Amino acid sequence: MSITLGFDIYGTLIDTQGVLTKLAEYTGQSTEFSRIWREKQLEYTFRRGLMRRYENFAVCTRNALDYTDSLLNTSLDDEAKQALMEAYRVLPAFDDVVESLAVAKEAGFRLFGFSNGLASAVQGLLEHAGISDYFEGVVSVDEVQTFKPNPDVYHHFIKTTGAAPENAWLVSSNPFDVMGAVNAGMKAAWLQRSHNVVFDPWGIEPTISIKSLAELPELIS
Ligand code: LAC
Repeated sequence: MSITLGFDIYGTLIDTQGVLTKLAEYTGQSTEFSRIWREKQLEYTFRRGLMRRYENFAVCTRNALDYTDSLLNTSLDDEAKQALMEAYRVLPAFDDVVESLAVAKEAGFRLFGFSNGLASAVQGLLEHAGISDYFEGVVSVDEVQTFKPNPDVYHHFIKTTGAAPENAWLVSSNPFDVMGAVNAGMKAAWLQRSHNVVFDPWGIEPTISIKSLAELPELIS
């Protein structure tokens, strides 16, 4: 049976740091702002999941933007915030993505986007990055109205794609996502995009760890 790959989107295929230029334009600085914005965005997904107060990922992103603006006193007006949200819809792919997807597709793997983001937003990003043709489809957490790493989300991926769990892989740079997938019975490749990222020491390990997507097809064949 063929291997099914679910690619995390933000931070794995698509570079959320791509919003830095716009941030520098509006705030005069960018690194701290983008780090807090991203951390809060994820924290809001975790908290909404626990509280069972689902609102989609774009809402979490916008709430996190408002929070970061207040925290750092950057006084962004609505137009600036709209422009930043817009920048989030056209983020670039990382350098290793196109070639690695082509090789994986050629090797006969089934490829899906698998994200906290809305399917329409993810589809837009994949099209903008010129990589949508590699994918059979996009599975979004919105279909189950909660977020990663709730096990329901990974079971939904397996069910929707019709994959056998032992042949279903998550590929993600986010340790919490990798642990969520393994916890739910999937296999998972952790993509360590930066040496600054540490895998959480809970005793739940990735099936494999890679430093570039280029390593992926060979390791799981
Ligand atoms: C996603 C977040 C977790 O794309 O990066 O699902």
